[in-house]
Parts: sequence; structure tokens; C-alpha cells
Amino acid sequence: DPLSDFIRGLPKAELHLHIEGSLEPEQMFEFARRNRVALPFRTVEEVRAAYAFTNLQDFLDIYYQGAQVLRTEEDFRDLALAYFRRLAADGGVHAEIFFDPQTHTDRGIPFQVVADGLLAGMAAADELGISSRLILCFLRHQDEDAAFATLRAAEPYLDRITGVGLDSSEVGNPPSKFARVFQAARQRGLKLVAHAGEEGPPDYVWQALDVLGVDRLDHGNRALEDDALARRLADQGTTLTVCPLSNLKLCVVPSLDAHPLGRMLDLGLRATVNADDPAYFGGYLLDNYVRVAAALDLSRDQLVRLARNSITGSFLDGEAQAPHL
Ligand code: ADE
Ligand code: ZN
Repeated sequence: DPLSDFIRGLPKAELHLHIEGSLEPEQMFEFARRNRVALPFRTVEEVRAAYAFTNLQDFLDIYYQGAQVLRTEEDFRDLALAYFRRLAADGGVHAEIFFDPQTHTDRGIPFQVVADGLLAGMAAADELGISSRLILCFLRHQDEDAAFATLRAAEPYLDRITGVGLDSSEVGNPPSKFARVFQAARQRGLKLVAHAGEEGPPDYVWQALDVLGVDRLDHGNRALEDDALARRLADQGTTLTVCPLSNLKLCVVPSLDAHPLGRMLDLGLRATVNADDPAYFGGYLLDNYVRVAAALDLSRDQLVRLARNSITGSFLDGEAQAPHL
């Protein structure tokens, strides 16, 4: 298909990808078997049938349950490597992957097991020609102390962690709750990102900018409800990591042809396309581009712009970006 071939040929970076959200049902069964973890499902079909969500929390409940099969360094390495192989097949050249250490440390898996496994997968990806960075996300439904404890656990790894992010249940957990931990992360030289405006109000996007001082914004859909906010994002050139199929599956948009990505581009926002949790939302990076491009009738120029935004919005330095531009 010409559209899909054209997009595959564009060098692309993925900037919004939860590695735990790339756990395919087949892999879930494999890890459950080798780790002797019981699953509430008998078949892959049963698992996929459970992936019918009406909001973010519906998804999060099943996503945290799925993550329980991940136990060993090898699990985390295999999970990451399977994702990077898939990215390479989609014409991806670089990924900045999120991980949720609290999901694992809370059930007794040491931080080092998770980090060493993911870093081993990233080293293997290098051999495939895929560069990558790691972003540690704090779970916003937990408290500030838990986030600080996670930052302390990460201390020996901070030379291999590019930034921190904020994910999980957005409504009721504003960015301001994590002002101090983000300030501490900044003092340690880490980049800062946060999910905001996925389900939460424009005020949470203002807070991500003004209270946390994020370098990049994850989602940002609801920023368009506030003209001054959209102007601010355009004027300061903030990169938005937009996730079309995620938004569809979590009912953030009623249909892909109602997706705000086209309006974002028209407003001069630096939007990018990303998969979020591909195993749960029915599509990896290329599928996200192809489906939203078809639904919104995006032009080739707009697709080139989206792919370029993903490279320039990455945390790679200029020299590392250059070969992809
Ligand atoms: N964790 C994994 N995916 C997420 C999303 N789309 N929003 C918030 N937290 C998440
Ligand atoms: Zn996300």
C-alpha cells in the first residue's frame, strides 16, 4: 500500500511508548508459564476480548495486571527487544521508552532487575541500528514520597536514564502534586516530561508547563480547549507526543476522524505520532500514522512534518539527529 510504504520510508522516532504496554498476549502467556504466574485468562482470544475500554482507568487496571508476569531481567530484556524489532520493521530509527518502576518494585521486583533488563534490550537494539533512551515514569496515583523513593532507587542508574515522566490516573492527580520531585529530577540533570490533557483539564497542561517545567508534553489533546494555552505551546515550540489509536481505544476521541491532530498541525503545534501501549490499543507506530493519516486525509507534507517533529523533539543531541533529518 503506497501510503504505508511512504510512511515506513520516513525516518521516525517514537517518543511516547510505555514498554509494559508493548506486552503482547502471546508473550504474557509465555512469561506467565516460565515464571509460574497464574493468569485469569485461558487463551489469547480471551485476553484480547478483555481489551475493551471506556476510559483510561479501565485500561490501567488491566495493564497493571498484565505487568505482573514480568519478573526477571530476561523478561524485561525480551520485552524491550521485541518492541525494538517491531519498531525497526515500521521504519523507526529511535525510541525514548517509558517504564513504570513502581509497578514492579511494589511487588518485590528490585529496581535493578527492571533497569538492567531494559538496558540489555536497548544495547541489543543498538545492533539493529535503533538508538534509544530510557524515561522513568512516576505513578501519579501514588504519593510524592513514593515518587521520591523511586528517584532514590534510580540514583545508581541516573547516567543511563535520560528523563522522568508522569503517568497513570490523571484526573485528581495534578502535576502540582509532583512539583518537588520534578525539581529534584531537574537538579540531577534529567529531562522532564509529563502526561497532561489526555483526560485532565487544560489547567493540568498549564501546570505541567509552569509548575513542572516540562521539556515535552505527553498527549496534550485538551490544551486545544484553551486558546491562550495552545498559543503558548505553539510559541514556545513544545513537542506534543500524540497517540491516535490510544485516544480512540480510551474514548478520548469518539472516532479517528474527530482526532485533533490535524487541528494541532494547523495551529503550528509540534505534534508527533506515537503508539502509547501498542499491545493494548491495536497498533504500533506505523499503524498509528497510517490510520490517522487516512482518517484525517493528511498530506505528504504533513506526514513529513510529523516524522521530522519526532526527530527534532527527541532528546538526541543535534549531531545524533542530523542523519535522520
Ligand atoms: N500508562 C500507560 N499508558 C498510559 C496512558 N495513556 N496514560 C496514562 N498512564 C499510562
Ligand atoms: Zn502514555
